[in-house]
This record gives sequence, C-alpha cells and structure tokens, in this order.
Amino acid sequence: MNQIMHRTRNSMPEKKRIELAAMLNQSLADTLDLYNQAKQAHWNIKGQNFIAMHKLLDDLAEGLVEQVDIIAERVTGLGGTAYGTTQHIAQATHLRAYPLDIFAINDHIEHLTQNIAILGEMTRTNIDKTDELDDFGTNDLYIDLIRFLDKYMWFLEAHIQK
Ligand SMILES: [Fe+2]
Repeated sequence: MNQIMHRTRNSMPEKKRIELAAMLNQSLADTLDLYNQAKQAHWNIKGQNFIAMHKLLDDLAEGLVEQVDIIAERVTGLGGTAYGTTQHIAQATHLRAYPLDIFAINDHIEHLTQNIAILGEMTRTNIDKTDELDDFGTNDLYIDLIRFLDKYMWFLEAHIQK
C-alpha cells in the first residue's frame, strides 16, 4: 500500500517514517477488524454465561477502539495518512474472516482467540522491528498493545480452560 506522506519538521528520516506508517496502517486495519469482531460477538453470543461475556466483550471492544485511535494518530504524527475506511480494512486485514452464523460462547472464544493470536504475533514482530528502527515512540505503542492483547487472551481462554 502506497503511503501518502505530508511535509513535517519531524526529525526522523522520511524513509523510516514511510516504513513505520506502512507497519502502523497494517496494525490499524487488523485492530479495527478485531474491534468489529468483538462487537459482533458482544451482540450475538448466546449461552448460560451471557451477561458476563456480553460485558467482557464490550470491555475488549472499548480497549481496542482506544488502541485504534493511538495507532491511527501515530501514523499521522509521523507525517503519514491513516487508512481507516471499512473498504480498506476489508481488503487489508490479516485476520481470519469472522463467521456470521456462530452463537455459542465457546465458538466465539475460539474465533476471537485465533485472531488475537494472529494480531499478537504481528505485534511481537513489530516490537522487534521498531526497536531496530530506533523508534521508541512506536515501540512503546506496540508494547502497550501486546500487554492488552495478552490480557484479553487470558480473559477469554480462562472460560474454556480447566
Ligand atoms: Fe453494547
């Protein structure tokens, strides 16, 4: 994806900022996709543990939307352009498509944790990459994101573990 860049006095070389903008825009698409999936589950789950899970999924969605805003504003803060439209996300996301015909809590946990794992793996890679690029601002963003994803992986998996 071509990164539309803007003139800035930011002292980081443009080549580096373009690389970071591309990385962050990928994370933006994936995190927005996961946000939509969390809401999809929040609205449609059925089962004995409904209310607890309904609320937990809304906390997940709320946390993701905060992360989304931080990611998008890091793109623009580096002189880039944030790509957040539904049409763009649909073609850019690296997550697995979320089924529309699942309802059982365990099925939602299965699909959400699969995608949290995919985003988590990419986030860990981006922690290393931003460290190599000496961009500690973006590195810190990814460290915060991985702590959040690891926490919700635990919250969700605890429902199906014994
Ligand atoms: Fe709601």
